Amino acid sequence: MNINEIQTPAILVDLDVLQHNLNKYAEEAAKYKKQIWPMIKTHKSIEMATLQRQYGATGFLCGTLDEAEALCEAGFDNIMYAYPVAAKVSIDRVIALSKKCNFILRMDGMESAVMVDEAAKKASVKIQYTLIVDSGLHRFGVEPEQAAEYVNRISSCDNLIFKGISTHPGHVYGAACKDEVSKYVLDECNAVATAVNVLKAAGISCEIISSGSTPTFWGAVCDANINIYHPGNYIFHDAIQMSTETASEEECALSILASVISHPKEDLFICDAGAKCLGLDQGAHGNASVSGHGYVIGHPEVEIYSLNEEHAFLRTEGVNPLQIGDKIAIIPNHACSAANLTDYYIIIDSEENVLEWIPVDIRGNRTRKLSK
Ligand SMILES: Cc1ncc(COP(=O)(O)O)c(C=O)c1O
Repeated sequence: MNINEIQTPAILVDLDVLQHNLNKYAEEAAKYKKQIWPMIKTHKSIEMATLQRQYGATGFLCGTLDEAEALCEAGFDNIMYAYPVAAKVSIDRVIALSKKCNFILRMDGMESAVMVDEAAKKASVKIQYTLIVDSGLHRFGVEPEQAAEYVNRISSCDNLIFKGISTHPGHVYGAACKDEVSKYVLDECNAVATAVNVLKAAGISCEIISSGSTPTFWGAVCDANINIYHPGNYIFHDAIQMSTETASEEECALSILASVISHPKEDLFICDAGAKCLGLDQGAHGNASVSGHGYVIGHPEVEIYSLNEEHAFLRTEGVNPLQIGDKIAIIPNHACSAANLTDYYIIIDSEENVLEWIPVDIRGNRTRKLSK
């Protein structure tokens, strides 16, 4: 089946491009003897995680406990959860995961450490953790200079095992162009170096020194301290990565196929993919480098200037390239958000033939379903 026969809107993933992306990052990491533990909240799919493992991923970072449990159930090991926990139900899930696999929790404070420790004591389980260090995103994390102080305080929690430090330079998405990315790489590497040195001076060594984002990967991969990288978006790339030249148009694996269905005015076309396919994201963490709501492949002159739930509004500069009935493929601004809006990816080859459907099987609220 060719993509022209598919009901639109549809989320397509070009397998060759996806494999190119996985291979490119894997090769670069291998060059510096670094590990990649991808952030899987980008794709929320066991099959995609399996592909990442085939391309050298030795562990995984999760944005939800659902993702961590699904990986564990599927037999994956080396599973890290990216954020602190405080709710009892989450702590119980952390304990269950720690019994089943090499699970690592991230923490950034004493209060939640004590909560997890007390529950772990009752369950006779040891919980491994990394301390989150703030490298500038200001979402979780202690100041790098305070790392030893926190680890020393948390060491009074007998059932917690310190494994190292983690950070995420997500504020890189404030970069408006390629040159600006290097400033965030410096933030990332300096924060890590400061924390590592402060810990070393206190006689504390780190087995895991983990960090990462897709744009900073290329500058930070040769860092002397970081040993595990957590790119997420790299598997697909998107219009935001194009805006900082982290990826080219040809390296964007995920697109939304839409049909042009209306031409009510001279300068207005409407297609059948809206906010419920493309997402409303115009850039994470304050990015102002993209305009509009996605990039129409092959048509840089077309602007998606507005979205309804099910429709996008398009206008063109100069000669109009569109016609009613045309199929267009749109690279979303933020592929991680778009991927969370579909039940499956339609996998295509370079000739636009459909190869298979891959379920997005780890999105939504699995807990609610399980506890019904
Ligand atoms: C903690 C953490 N690490 C890594 C990533 C991956 O970042 P990126 O998608 O830029 O590769 C994310 C994504 O938001 C994240 O929240």
